[in-house]
Amino acid sequence: MNKSYFIYTYGCQMNVHESEKLAGILSGMGYIEAQDVSDADIIVMNTCCVRETAETKVYGHLGRIKSQKKPGSVLAVCGCMTQQQGAADRLVKRCGFVDIVIGTFNQPRLCDYINEFLHTGTRIVEVWASENDGDCAETSNVKRSSGINAWVNIMYGCNNFCTYCIVPYVRGRERSRPIDDIISDVDGLLSDGYKQITLLGQNVNSYSYKDKTFIDLLKSLESDKKYRLKFMTSHPKDVSPELASLMAQSKTLAKNLHLPVQSGSNRILSEMNRRYTREQYFDKISRFKQEMPDIGLSSDIMVGFPTETEEDFVQTLDLVERVKYNNLFMFIYSRRSGTPADKMPQLDYATKQKRIDRLIKFQFEISKAVAAEKIGKVYEVLVSDKTDGKCYGKAENDIAISFKSDTVNVGDFVSVKVASAKNANLTGEVI
Ligand code: SAH
Ligand code: SF4
Ligand code: F3S
Repeated sequence: MNKSYFIYTYGCQMNVHESEKLAGILSGMGYIEAQDVSDADIIVMNTCCVRETAETKVYGHLGRIKSQKKPGSVLAVCGCMTQQQGAADRLVKRCGFVDIVIGTFNQPRLCDYINEFLHTGTRIVEVWASENDGDCAETSNVKRSSGINAWVNIMYGCNNFCTYCIVPYVRGRERSRPIDDIISDVDGLLSDGYKQITLLGQNVNSYSYKDKTFIDLLKSLESDKKYRLKFMTSHPKDVSPELASLMAQSKTLAKNLHLPVQSGSNRILSEMNRRYTREQYFDKISRFKQEMPDIGLSSDIMVGFPTETEEDFVQTLDLVERVKYNNLFMFIYSRRSGTPADKMPQLDYATKQKRIDRLIKFQFEISKAVAAEKIGKVYEVLVSDKTDGKCYGKAENDIAISFKSDTVNVGDFVSVKVASAKNANLTGEVI
């Protein structure tokens, strides 16, 4: 019988895609995917540490795996959490049952570590401080599990050092992949039948390879083949008017923009080292709205950043009200050791909790209103799921629509007229 593996993934899309690469490595070694963790011969936990809750969950989860895993199975922990200063040592002390601890820079070598462990039976703890050659080592074999969508990394790391954020410390400096490699990856994926490609990077707008920019890359990915091109994440300081024009004209680019603002207060934005003001943010958003009045907008917002006052928070609510996002990811600020914000005066938990509750309620009403405005409009929906004749997909501006159809299949592009909205959920009919 084939030996099998089971992978748990925490964190962002980037990490989800990293896990597809880890699955590719394990498949290359002859392992198949296990249905249940208790059957697996290799268990990999791919971690996140962007907020404290993520870390606490990982520890709790490792405790459960200890009792579920079968004797002799190998447990490896990798990802952002192990990459923090002192974190690998803490993990090794707290969880004696973990066999392999590796970091984000050396996890592409998972195969070697597993072979070494199976050979010697000695626990391996090896976390590199950076990539070996400063290059973007890509794994050739990716085992994708994201349906009609395929993720493609265009760059790694981040140079922005927002004062709250751990990512630059655990993912290293920005490095962009060669443009020809990205183009050939995308061509291959389209030939394989993928209908949507999402380009990944912590700050895609600063993609830079030789003299090629992000705009050059997007232009090169225009194709006569029918597909949808998305990207994430953009940084407000680097988004250009050129991108708005290109998006408006493009046949392939989705008409949506995820532009994390984090706060609506200029004082807090400056403390966060975001390097833009709310006015500059509004200007950029208006430019996109001018070019594409029905553009889908989404954002990340953090409440309770050190020193945030009621006035600062009201500025955030005001910004949210003006922009009218159709999707908003809302977080409570979480202290990350080693970041500048960790040393700033902190807010109490109750204040932070009250603010997030207010923001969530506030945005819920906006999402409802934004959804109601879509009734009667016709969109091109890319179908991503179908169960019992009920189809689900997203429009070109990223709004989610469900509808009934017996003839439509997953992967089809169909014209759907929005018939009704229940809260923020849209239902439509094929036309
Ligand atoms: N590179 C992207 C995303 C980074 S992490 C960007 O710049 O937008 C995703 C989101 O997690 C961030 O946008 C931020 O809202 C949130 N986040 C990052 N660090 C955080 C922290 N210490 N506490 C709470 N939320 C955090
Ligand atoms: Fe973190 Fe800021 Fe970089 Fe995003 S841009 S990953 S929030 S440091
Ligand atoms: Fe992503 Fe979490 Fe790492 S958000 S980059 S997996 S710290």
